[in-house]
Amino acid sequence: MSILRPFEATDILRFHAVNADPWTATYHNGYYASYVAQWPDLCYTVEGAFDDQVRAYMIAKDEPPPPDKQHHGHLTALSICPAYRGLGLARVCMAMLERLSSDGSAGWAEAAGGEGEREGEATEGANGSHPDGTDCVDAFFVDLFVRCNNHRAIAMYEKLGYSVFRRVVDYYNGMEGVGSTRDELDGFDMRKSMPKDTDGTYVRANGREVLVSPEEVWA
Ligand SMILES: CC(C)(COP(=O)(O)OP(=O)(O)OC[C@H]1O[C@@H](n2cnc3c(N)ncnc32)[C@H](O)[C@@H]1OP(=O)(O)O)[C@@H](O)C(=O)NCCC(=O)NCCS
Repeated sequence: MSILRPFEATDILRFHAVNADPWTATYHNGYYASYVAQWPDLCYTVEGAFDDQVRAYMIAKDEPPPPDKQHHGHLTALSICPAYRGLGLARVCMAMLERLSSDGSAGWAEAAGGEGEREGEATEGANGSHPDGTDCVDAFFVDLFVRCNNHRAIAMYEKLGYSVFRRVVDYYNGMEGVGSTRDELDGFDMRKSMPKDTDGTYVRANGREVLVSPEEVWA
């Protein structure tokens, strides 16, 4: 059993069970604090119900600020400790990010793959957001970067409706613990359209063949 709650800056003192994982990067302390300060409603922690250890977390943001035509939700980190995998926690975290990045027209339980709220049953969400979508930012898409050799995560994101938009060559070059093969060094930029992207402008079918440099991504 798990407890889902907002991510707190002090969670970094207790998230070693999650970050002791070759696929999970550990950043400097201020990095996490800046997310808590700027995007508190997009950052979540999962604790075990019977101890206070951090078992999973997601940190995310939305940028650049609207009305910029690239306004999107961005998944920065999502990691579930091994004992808590396969329980649907990543799906729930992604559903919250997508609901908050969308126009809020879908109930969050519906986005998570459940039946959604029935008429008259609308309640405040686990993240404190309201069923009317008050907290939703109505961005064009959600994106994330993932190592090209992280097949498990890529398969999961594809199952959740994400597709590769472009391959960023050397995206992970220089990062601690990253190997030297092309698939270890490169990252996929994966995206999913939100309802505001009515004609699919922000996704493409052949993204695996589109190679870009990190400089082009940050431009
Ligand atoms: C990838 C990761 C986040 C998945 O977390 P999880 O909580 O086990 O995933 P869930 O149980 O929520 O699964 C969500 C969906 O993805 C699918 N999925 C999960 N792992 C999968 C795998 N190895 N292969 C294919 N599909 C997978 C599930 O079947 C589920 O779909 P379903 O509900 O239709 O069955 C987890 O393995 C992890 O933390 N890995 C290490 C860190 C990492 O790689 N993070 C991503 C970096 S961008």
